[in-house]
Amino acid sequence: MLDSPRITRAVHFRRPRPPSTGIPMDKLKIRGGARLRGEVAVSGAKNAALPILAASLLTADEFIVDNVPQLQDVATTLKLLRQMGVAAERDGGTVRLKADDLSNTEAPYEMVKTMRASILVLGPLVARFGTARVSLPGGCAIGARPVDQHIKGLELLGARIRIEGGFVVAEAKRLKGTRIVTDMVTVTGTENLMMAAALAEGETIIENAAREPEVVDLADALNAMGARISGAGTASIAVQGVERLHGTRHRVMPDRIETGTFLTAVAAAGGEAVLRGAAPHTLDAVLDKLKEAGADLRAEGDLLSIRMDRRPRAVSLRTAPYPAFPTDMQAQFMALDCVADGVARITETIFENRFMHVLELQRLGANIAIEGNTAVVHGVDRLAGAPVMATDLRASACLVVAALAADGETLVDRIYHLDRGYEKMESKLAALGAQVERVK
Ligand code: UD1
Repeated sequence: MLDSPRITRAVHFRRPRPPSTGIPMDKLKIRGGARLRGEVAVSGAKNAALPILAASLLTADEFIVDNVPQLQDVATTLKLLRQMGVAAERDGGTVRLKADDLSNTEAPYEMVKTMRASILVLGPLVARFGTARVSLPGGCAIGARPVDQHIKGLELLGARIRIEGGFVVAEAKRLKGTRIVTDMVTVTGTENLMMAAALAEGETIIENAAREPEVVDLADALNAMGARISGAGTASIAVQGVERLHGTRHRVMPDRIETGTFLTAVAAAGGEAVLRGAAPHTLDAVLDKLKEAGADLRAEGDLLSIRMDRRPRAVSLRTAPYPAFPTDMQAQFMALDCVADGVARITETIFENRFMHVLELQRLGANIAIEGNTAVVHGVDRLAGAPVMATDLRASACLVVAALAADGETLVDRIYHLDRGYEKMESKLAALGAQVERVK
């Protein structure tokens, strides 16, 4: 049975006035060139929190999520859920959600354009309510990033989908389990289809599924809600659909990209640090590359410690789906390679336009040449601080890493990108002894 009768009203957000960006244009002032030393607590993973919050749409019961990071993308997700009528309350790291009385099943353009992950409401909405109207995300700074695989999978599950006025409009009676082979490995695509299949009739097999740890964390949350999902973390996920899901309490996994970013900062600037509350087993490819660069790394339980007493050695890498090297760490490693001894080749295979940070790194004195989807980085002895501009989330993290390794002062503009995905970045850097200041 679908829960559609609870939708009382369809709200179409066609406001005549242009949306205000409301984006604070804060900058980060960093005085670099000094060794880092200290301890940092790792936050909950952004990329696990977003789909898990969206999963609240799959049940009318209360759903409690712990270890939710304070980030702009989380705030956007909660705003998105609230405007549909989901009760969502946040108390520190804990968010309580209840989707028992939805007023609409729409994700408006104003929200989706600021956060592509808004597409994650599509699967849950169509599975539980039989209707969804989600704005198409459009382009973004790091490439085209279409959602055709989300749509293809939902159609195979029996949804009728049309594109209307820039929106994906999906309708279905109860979805029916099926076999889906995605054309490429897609993280949010796998998550959307897993959530939709959880409430479908019968068995769904998702082949060529993303194996990212965040997919596993979502599957764990869904199983705690009564879903029957097996194989998450492998390329073949089996979902036995159930009639309804119930409430639960789930703790979001540690953020492996935030962890990797701080480790890379220490490797680039030199020094030693301990990261508490990390999940070292989710970081194999990154830890291997840091060791190759010359870092001394130790993992013990949820503690990860790093020590770097030398100039980094250049490390070449190629991004690919998990468990290979993550595209979300590519930019930060490029910053490391800028000050390394030797020449590194960095190949980006996931997003076609993810080298926007190269021009900014060059402003700091980096020597980088682009050959197609490969950046050839000739390490220089020192970078020198300069004003730079963040272009996307991980590019801003890359500029912070470079600024910490550079002599003098760097002013990183447009750090609203950073605030989308890094919790308390400046206070965590300050805990490592970095000289960082937010300029309003
Ligand atoms: C997720 C992560 C993001 C990370 C990316 C790759 C979240 C919220 N975001 O993004 O941080 O950088 O995985 O690890 O988890 N593609 C299509 N059609 C589709 C879907 C994807 O062509 O329907 C392409 C994309 O353009 C891209 C590739 O597939 O080239 C991988 O994208 P995908 O894994 O879907 O990225 P996201 O899930 O958006």
